[in-house]
Amino acid sequence: MSSARTLALGRRVERDEEIGILPEEDVVYDDEACRLAAMSRKKLHEVDRLSRVIFRVAERQNADSIIDVGAGHGYLTHLLAHQNPSRRLYAIDCDDARTCGSKDRGTRIVLSNHHRHPTRIIADHEKENPVIYVTARLDPQTLPELLEAHRYVLVGLHSCGDLSGLTMLRTFLECEGVKGIVVVGCCYHRIHVEREGDESQLGFPLSNNVRSLIQTHHPSFSLTYRSLTTACLTFASFDNPSTILSALRGHYHRSLFELLLRSWKPARTLSPGQLRVGGLPKSATQDFQSYCVAACTKLGLCTSDERRESLIDAIRKVEVDKEKMIRRIAFMCVMRSFFGPCVESLVLLDRMMYLKEGLGIPLDQEKHEGKGRVWLRNLFDYAESPRNMVVVAEKAACA
Ligand SMILES: C[S@@+](CC[C@H](N)C(=O)[O-])C[C@H]1O[C@@H](n2cnc3c(N)ncnc32)[C@H](O)[C@@H]1O
Repeated sequence: MSSARTLALGRRVERDEEIGILPEEDVVYDDEACRLAAMSRKKLHEVDRLSRVIFRVAERQNADSIIDVGAGHGYLTHLLAHQNPSRRLYAIDCDDARTCGSKDRGTRIVLSNHHRHPTRIIADHEKENPVIYVTARLDPQTLPELLEAHRYVLVGLHSCGDLSGLTMLRTFLECEGVKGIVVVGCCYHRIHVEREGDESQLGFPLSNNVRSLIQTHHPSFSLTYRSLTTACLTFASFDNPSTILSALRGHYHRSLFELLLRSWKPARTLSPGQLRVGGLPKSATQDFQSYCVAACTKLGLCTSDERRESLIDAIRKVEVDKEKMIRRIAFMCVMRSFFGPCVESLVLLDRMMYLKEGLGIPLDQEKHEGKGRVWLRNLFDYAESPRNMVVVAEKAACA
């Protein structure tokens, strides 16, 4: 366990003027600030710090536009729009419901600004929501067609899985107009580490360096779906023993469900790859029975009333040992969480190396005149927001 700790990257935030990491400029994240911004304390902390880094990159790159990729409900987008009135702001998300929600939010912000300052003369550019919303999947081939931009910075806050890795980094390297990138990743279990046939679509490893390390290392190793899920566990959330069990509800539901499938004979056999339950409605996560019924329905295993009855029987049997099992599962999750920071460090170092290789920057340097710059830094306070590392890269002026 102590090796696991020393192998992982540190998490302390250090001031860095050049990148724009300036913790002393944080707004006060009190209830009033959260209410005015209509954000949680965590989100406000994230967008406040990230926006300063983005502003620094956009200024240095003389960018005409900022593209918030995986913009979701637009918390970051609208703060950036407010801070960068002279730049076009694009919010891209592949989920149309989120794009619509973000648009509503933008309109409400413009309206509330007018109500808050009714006597102030409002400039024309302030009367309309300045953000351009696009529902699309980010793709380096089609991105330039979506935009009316020449020099732009790609940004992402907690862009999940491959979006913050392969997709955004490749877009940065391949699209001439993208001059800078600022991205914080999350949901590492959504990184594709297996795909039949096409290795160029794998989200890990990205860099030649890590790839050759993996190929030559003895014993050989790889990151699997299971190991990537540990990178999403947060050791900070286990600091308080009384909250461990509730923090792990999702984990023990999934583990007990796996156990249940061994004793209950499902209507059809599924390979381990097909056994991913993924997201379920909130109502299905409240208790174990609701979880199992929803999971089996989603996986197509509960095809008749008869099957459903036998499932309920099987659930009751597993529930006899539930209390004992939950404690074991909780213990295992806490143990696994020690390795999460190592896995996350490896994923992020691989991304950093991929960018350096792509720009032609030596691996032991952060900047190279005529090529560009690449940084990997802690940005958010770990206790506030554990996915706290930001990848920042810029192309050199002539690149
Ligand atoms: C975890 S959410 C983050 C939302 C937002 N940035 C925030 O911090 O609140 C990730 C978002 O990325 C979007 N997304 C995932 N893959 C995408 C892709 N390839 N192209 C565009 N959007 C994507 C999802 O729909 C989702 O809204």
